[in-house]
Amino acid sequence: MHTHSIMTNIAIRPALPEDAAHIAHFLEVQWGATVMVSRGRLFDVTRLPAFIAIWDGLLVGLITYHIENGECEIVTLDSIVSNMGVGTALIEAVRQAAEHCWRLWLITTNDNLYALGFYQKRGFQLVAVHRNAIELSRQMKPEIPLIGMDGIPIRDEIELEILL
Ligand SMILES: CC(C)(COP(=O)(O)OP(=O)(O)OC[C@H]1O[C@@H](n2cnc3c(N)ncnc32)[C@H](O)[C@@H]1OP(=O)(O)O)[C@@H](O)C(=O)NCCC(=O)NCCS
Repeated sequence: MHTHSIMTNIAIRPALPEDAAHIAHFLEVQWGATVMVSRGRLFDVTRLPAFIAIWDGLLVGLITYHIENGECEIVTLDSIVSNMGVGTALIEAVRQAAEHCWRLWLITTNDNLYALGFYQKRGFQLVAVHRNAIELSRQMKPEIPLIGMDGIPIRDEIELEILL
């Protein structure tokens, strides 16, 4: 199995079928749901290919992705151990898995200023603002809050990409 190690005791590896319950629980804790909407499309995140970060037997990071028509979308990225390189290593793992694709892309919401900085520092460029796209997302997933990080209204999808 392809295993990368960031620090001596954090391992990044592809998710396996036996990780499914653990991943579903992690998503519930992080997002309160296992479904995610992006560009008007509802994903059951538990069914997507993924890489996980494991520290001392605990799931501390998860990235899920979807490859279609030569494009790889990062659907979710979460790390619960900040500033240890887990988020960066998970993106790198997907980037390698997507090497046959022409682009790696993702959506984040307009309130997530930290993510906008984080991704740009890792080579992503802002390519589109899908104004008010979250109205449609909310119809599909009503639990999306009106107000997001730092008290910012959640309204727009911001699309970022890296050409591979
Ligand atoms: C965004 C997120 C995934 C980042 O995860 P993370 O594990 O903290 O990411 P990293 O550790 O790789 O990088 C964070 C910082 O730590 C620094 N860092 C990276 N490796 C490091 C290491 N080995 N030691 C110390 N610091 C390190 C990086 O320089 C980075 O700082 P920078 O952005 O100023 O360059 C995480 O904050 C998160 O889950 N947020 C909530 C969910 C979310 O917003 N997801 C993305 C939107 S869909």
